[in-house]
Amino acid sequence: MEKMKIGVIGAGSISGVHLEAYHNNPEVEIYAICDLNEERAKAKAEKYGASKVFTDYNELLALPEIEAVSVCTWNNSHAPISIAALNAGKNVLVEKPLCKTVEEALQVEEAVKRSGKVLQVGFVRRYGSNTKVLKEFIDNGDLGEIYYAKASCLRRLGNPGGWFADKERSGGGPLIDIGVHVIDLAWYLMGRPKVQSITGNAYNKLGNRNNVKNLSFYRAADYDADKNTVEDAANALIRFENGASLMVDVSFTLHAKKDELTVKLYGTKGGAEVEPELTIVTEKYDTILNVSPQVDHPTFDFAGGFQNEINHFIDACKGRKETLSPVQDGVEMMKILCGIYESSEQGKEIRF
Ligand SMILES: NC(=O)c1ccc[n+]([C@@H]2O[C@H](COP(=O)([O-])OP(=O)(O)OC[C@H]3O[C@@H](n4cnc5c(N)ncnc54)[C@H](O)[C@@H]3O)[C@@H](O)[C@H]2O)c1
Repeated sequence: MEKMKIGVIGAGSISGVHLEAYHNNPEVEIYAICDLNEERAKAKAEKYGASKVFTDYNELLALPEIEAVSVCTWNNSHAPISIAALNAGKNVLVEKPLCKTVEEALQVEEAVKRSGKVLQVGFVRRYGSNTKVLKEFIDNGDLGEIYYAKASCLRRLGNPGGWFADKERSGGGPLIDIGVHVIDLAWYLMGRPKVQSITGNAYNKLGNRNNVKNLSFYRAADYDADKNTVEDAANALIRFENGASLMVDVSFTLHAKKDELTVKLYGTKGGAEVEPELTIVTEKYDTILNVSPQVDHPTFDFAGGFQNEINHFIDACKGRKETLSPVQDGVEMMKILCGIYESSEQGKEIRF
């Protein structure tokens, strides 16, 4: 059987994880790589045996033999590249966040409908094995009605700088970069209720804390301590049409004792934590039980999650499965993220 030719647009950090997972999928041929930085594209092409290298994504998309692409570029180009790819008849796996604004998200959704192609948003946490285990419990009613959830992703020192700290290219700071993962995960497990109102606060109080000594953190390739136009921290209370609510807080910098990553759900029959470690809370014979499922990966398994995501994308391209993270969910997530920023700017609750 002929392998499916794929292209990867954007050859930076996360592209390496996509490429590794494509490389492990026996149905895929890594065919072309594109990056504005030619050296970066060439290095990845060499490593993964891709025969074509481009610096202009339109040239990659013009190749009729390419069936699908991963979009691993800065957030400001997710929408235009995804739309161009769909218009060229390609299936698209676009990294999170779907884009920078709700308007862009709706344009991508329109292009998906028009093209009839698959677009999968890179909400990789949905593909984690701990999420899959918990989803089965939820789908079988073990938690009852989930009416409250909490999601936190706090870095005390972790503004990566570079494009991440440039609002023009990123669309925002910790909320749109790391908050999106935990908000989406909680929302997905809550059953994707429609958002009704949002009260949000975004803070620019500490900057990137580049003064801090003796503690290291990840820096983007073009880190420049003097450039930072994104928020340091944000929080929100999101209310849904079904009456459920979600509380969120995120940060790149914060005077917190330690970093934190938690996603917790509370229902009428039970509760659950999917991060930091899969746990199910329940009650039996009037006794409360904290249940620890015995699984290989009680917390998010990075490589395994991406492998599941890429394998699922290929299955969706082949028509064997529906994607778990369709464009409509990307649109709803942009409404939530942009709603938090908007509520903060206006100093009041946003209603939908
Ligand atoms: N799912 C996850 O867990 C996860 C983790 C990290 C990053 N991401 C997402 O992946 C994307 C890339 O992040 P990264 O960490 O790899 O950044 P990066 O800076 O390491 O790489 C981005 C690359 O895209 C290239 N690029 C930008 N615009 C381009 C264009 N128009 N055409 C061609 N190339 C272009 C840049 O030159 C750069 O090499 C972001 O959207 C980010 O949010 C997701």
